[in-house]
Amino acid sequence: MQLTINGKVQDVDVEENMPLLWVLRDTLNLTGTKFGCGVSACGACTVLVDGVAVRSCSTPASAAIGANITTIEAQMMPDTLQSRVQAAWIAHQVPQCGYCQSGQIMAAVSLLSQNQSPTDDDIDVAMSNICRCGTYGRIRAAIHSLSRA
Ligand code: FES
Ligand code: FES
Repeated sequence: MQLTINGKVQDVDVEENMPLLWVLRDTLNLTGTKFGCGVSACGACTVLVDGVAVRSCSTPASAAIGANITTIEAQMMPDTLQSRVQAAWIAHQVPQCGYCQSGQIMAAVSLLSQNQSPTDDDIDVAMSNICRCGTYGRIRAAIHSLSRA
């Protein structure tokens, strides 16, 4: 199948129902997206499909055919919402061990693309990703720093 990932069309020879996470990590070596639970519970595997956060461990690769898939590796592109989120993450020293953070950043990009001035409640609803290091307060502060309100 053909998948469009970070603006580049990639041919991948995989089973239709292989989780998108496996395609990214094991087939394409895009290992910035992490495996946590494998059952759509933790958010470590979050990527964007047409701008919306999805949990790639539970998304069949075939469901993303024809869509634009964005991973944490797209952060290399300058002056995008994703790069601004990354800069805010650095400014607020959000990551601790860092394991959950690529998923957190992608969820934040999805939230801010739909809601430019999220409240704490909006953030809590949208950011259901789990962080074992307890960075939730810093995540909120970083997101508020990007608010257009
Ligand atoms: S690894 Fe996908 S939600 Fe936990
Ligand atoms: S920064 Fe360690 S799990 Fe979130």
